[in-house]
Amino acid sequence: MRVLVTVRAGFIGSNFVRYVARAHPAWEILVLDKLTYAGRRENLTGLEDHPGFRFEKGDIGDPEAVANVLPGCDYVVNFAAETHVDRSLYDAGSFIMTDVYGTFVLLEAARRAPGLKRFVQISTDEVYGSVETGSSTESDPLLPRNPYSASKAGADRLAYSYWATYGVPVIVTRASNNYGPHQFPEKIIPLFVTHALDDIPLPLYGDGLNVRDWLHVDDHCRAVDLLIEKGVPGETYNVGGGNEVANIDLTRRILALLGKPETLIRRVADRAGHDRRYSLGCARLRGLGWSPRVAFEAGLRATVDWYRANEAWWRPLKEADPAFREHYHRHYEG
Ligand code: NAD
Ligand code: DAU
Repeated sequence: MRVLVTVRAGFIGSNFVRYVARAHPAWEILVLDKLTYAGRRENLTGLEDHPGFRFEKGDIGDPEAVANVLPGCDYVVNFAAETHVDRSLYDAGSFIMTDVYGTFVLLEAARRAPGLKRFVQISTDEVYGSVETGSSTESDPLLPRNPYSASKAGADRLAYSYWATYGVPVIVTRASNNYGPHQFPEKIIPLFVTHALDDIPLPLYGDGLNVRDWLHVDDHCRAVDLLIEKGVPGETYNVGGGNEVANIDLTRRILALLGKPETLIRRVADRAGHDRRYSLGCARLRGLGWSPRVAFEAGLRATVDWYRANEAWWRPLKEADPAFREHYHRHYEG
């Protein structure tokens, strides 16, 4: 089997490539990644030795780069995206180019790849918009409310349209908030853990009562792997962790794990268009035998420990990488 993974160096993509290399040692793994600020070569240490592993640096929006890797693949898993909601508030264009147009270029190539068995489009629970009560099921309307989630919703339905129109064997996954090792330190868990380690105040948006459903990245990888083989083309699958936590409670747990005082919490202006809550009903995926295995307490503790032990990974990103500094200054200090 030959699998094309767009993105190996981002957070979930790098965890997924490691997962596939372990779970399917005989598979050929081809990877295409533009290596944006979020794609870190250092996330991949050790993978180069895996037999059948090939890396191409390239943009999913570039038909030539895609033509180099996609033909002949059995499976395509499209993780590539601009992913940070706060960045999409300033620069929606790059989100539309990668998340929508890039997905279109991949789908066009997939349409001309007769042997392709599955095209997995990694979407997000954010496409449902804010869910004040109850939980979203896969047939609910999509009501995205920020440029990131609107771009993802565009890609999500574009992928579906290639199944309905051309018979490309598309599967769409909509996962909740992932956490775990190698997440870029702009997202709440790595940002707050690394800030707290340095006794820097934690910028909590608004009243801190927005709720996210936390899914360990290993549980997400297991779900995608299962869907590659057992997912039904044309279907969409929610992938939720079942750990709905208000941001203020998450922040307090992080501080407690690090033995830091709650006086480090700094209330700041709310995110524009901040969705109040996401919540997923996952009966369809559970029907295939999946359920999350990582308990949130244990997963959060292990994640905090990972950042504590891997300062050499995150400190240069926060202190020396212009992409982090520029975003931080514009968003929090500007
Ligand atoms: P990330 O920001 O850590 O990594 C993004 C990766 O995409 C990087 O490796 C980057 O180099 C690559 N990339 C960006 N533009 C590209 C392009 N034009 N061509 C090729 N590569 C490009 O992202 P992540 O958090 O690992 O998210 C991966 C996927 O999962 C995304 O599609 C995201 O929407 C989805 N998702 C993420 C979460 C989450 O909580 N992180 C939850 C649900 C769904
Ligand atoms: O729900 C899935 C989505 O989860 C993915 O599709 C996105 O790619 C991923 O980035 C993530 O989006 P969120 O916006 O939920 O993640 P983030 O870590 O940016 O924010 C989580 C919550 O924490 C959110 O309610 C905003 C809040 N927050 C975030 C930051 C960065 C703060 O209060 N302060 C902060 O500084």
